[in-house]
Amino acid sequence: KYILDLTVTENLRLHANYVLLKLTSSPLLPEMLPGQFAEIRVDGSPATFLRRPISINYIDKERNEVWFLIQLVGEGTKHLGEAKIGDKINVILPLGNSFTMPQKTSNKLLLVGGGVGTAPMLYLGQQLAAKGHKPTFLLGARSDKDLLQLEQFTTYGDVYTTTEDGSHGERGYVTQHSILNKVDFEQIYTCGPKPMMIAVAKYAKSKGINCEVSLENMMACGIGACLCCVENTTEGHLCVCKEGPIFNINKLLW
Ligand code: FES
Repeated sequence: KYILDLTVTENLRLHANYVLLKLTSSPLLPEMLPGQFAEIRVDGSPATFLRRPISINYIDKERNEVWFLIQLVGEGTKHLGEAKIGDKINVILPLGNSFTMPQKTSNKLLLVGGGVGTAPMLYLGQQLAAKGHKPTFLLGARSDKDLLQLEQFTTYGDVYTTTEDGSHGERGYVTQHSILNKVDFEQIYTCGPKPMMIAVAKYAKSKGINCEVSLENMMACGIGACLCCVENTTEGHLCVCKEGPIFNINKLLW
């Protein structure tokens, strides 16, 4: 992994609570895999000296950019959200393991994202499409305003949505979407709020579909030192930041 001072090339406010930060570096950014994350240092305020773990949203190879979708939830992320073009941001990357790429070409791959958990699904979808797969995206949010980057998702595969208020796609939760009854998916990848991922895992198990989840347990150090991110698994307590964040549901005690 690398510790780098990256330069802000763009900071887009996608929604009242989300920004998309695009960062570049010279020389070339290191290779990063879908599902991996970065620990981003928040400078400026003593209360926010910890780094924030943020998943890799997208890599723009041509522009040598890495994108991070940041939900403005606390002081640290709000500070990051105010970054200006040209600012330097210190990151450690890439961290963690990655999603497993399917062995044979498939058009029955389902990528389920909820809330800010849709972020890693964009890069995963891009990588799958680049390898000849045809991913299907199922994205859930509270309302239409919380569904982010839809246009980009549609460049890599079919996109289905659910919203809790019915303002976009089908009303309800992702696990209630009608596409699940129409297609026999072969593989599911998911990231989002834990109750959503547990519901997706249950669905996958009931259908015998292989499924990988990206856990977003509370993280501090990001390198397996503080033990604040442990998940109880079939192999005992594992650090999500080091052994994960991607786990096959067979390994989890859900
Ligand atoms: Fe510190 Fe995982 S975040 S051990």
